Amino acid sequence: MSTSSRLPLINRAAGRIAGAGGKRLRPALTLATALALGGSVSSRVVTAAACVELIHAGSLVHDDLMDNAAERRGVRTLNAELGDARALVVGDFMLARAGLVALSSTSKPVAETLAAVVVELAEGQFQEAAELFDPDRTFEDALRSITGKTAALFRASCLVAHPAGRSMAEYGERFGVIFQILDDLLDLASTAERLGKPVGNDLRQGVYTVPLLLALRHDHDDLRSFLGRRLSEDEIASLLARLRRSRMVDDTLEYCRGLASDALASLPVIADPRIARVLYGLPSAYIDRAQALVVA
Ligand code: FPP
Ligand code: MG
Repeated sequence: MSTSSRLPLINRAAGRIAGAGGKRLRPALTLATALALGGSVSSRVVTAAACVELIHAGSLVHDDLMDNAAERRGVRTLNAELGDARALVVGDFMLARAGLVALSSTSKPVAETLAAVVVELAEGQFQEAAELFDPDRTFEDALRSITGKTAALFRASCLVAHPAGRSMAEYGERFGVIFQILDDLLDLASTAERLGKPVGNDLRQGVYTVPLLLALRHDHDDLRSFLGRRLSEDEIASLLARLRRSRMVDDTLEYCRGLASDALASLPVIADPRIARVLYGLPSAYIDRAQALVVA
């Protein structure tokens, strides 16, 4: 079963996004899990890894549409290139195609896991959209949303790799939560020059993320006056400056380090020392990278 369409325009659009690069972190996690638990990678596992990446890429097409974003990974987004309507259905196509390929070329449990994760992605993203500009959004609300919209796919990346993938699912989910929290932290605490993309987007869109909600724990009145409404560019600059002076960066990195240590504690015994090194090192490598990218 191929992932392509009988319509060349859809192939070109989906191929542009799938070929635009990215770290391929989720399929790498699938392959690493297969190696960690079974010592080898079968063609079914490679297919499952490709389906995971196709779901991720399809969900980003929808995300860019919802964000009205013009560029991702240095490439114009499909909504900018083709308009919202066509981008929407190319995203649908990619998700549906991933489901079909999984059904025909992996196994029933793998296809079920991938179908279930699309539901979780949609629910997590819906929750975020429903809570935009909500001044009462809690830390737990934000955590629940990112567990669905991001960490669920990291968890599934492990689950689809091997019948014993469950033993690594907790690791995958915790790493996914760390990954999203660091992405959210950089949006508040780095610079456009360092990231290669604008910062403050979450504030602009009214997404009150885990790092912001951690900062609010210590500084209620000053920061709270910026919540619950659209902000001008001057207000965003002022709020970013306040957040950078607050305990946000330290508290967020500390929270992530706690999650990383829980993630490592949930890893099973891994016979291959090279794979063990990669999996043990991954969460802290991401935390160190984020720390290097925040402005002092
Ligand atoms: C990127 O996060 C977005 C996601 C990880 C999830 C996107 C999920 C959907 C759009 C749900 C709909 C999709 C399906 C599967 C039906 P971000 O917006 O925080 O980060 P970024 O835009 O800066 O990359
Ligand atoms: Mg987005």
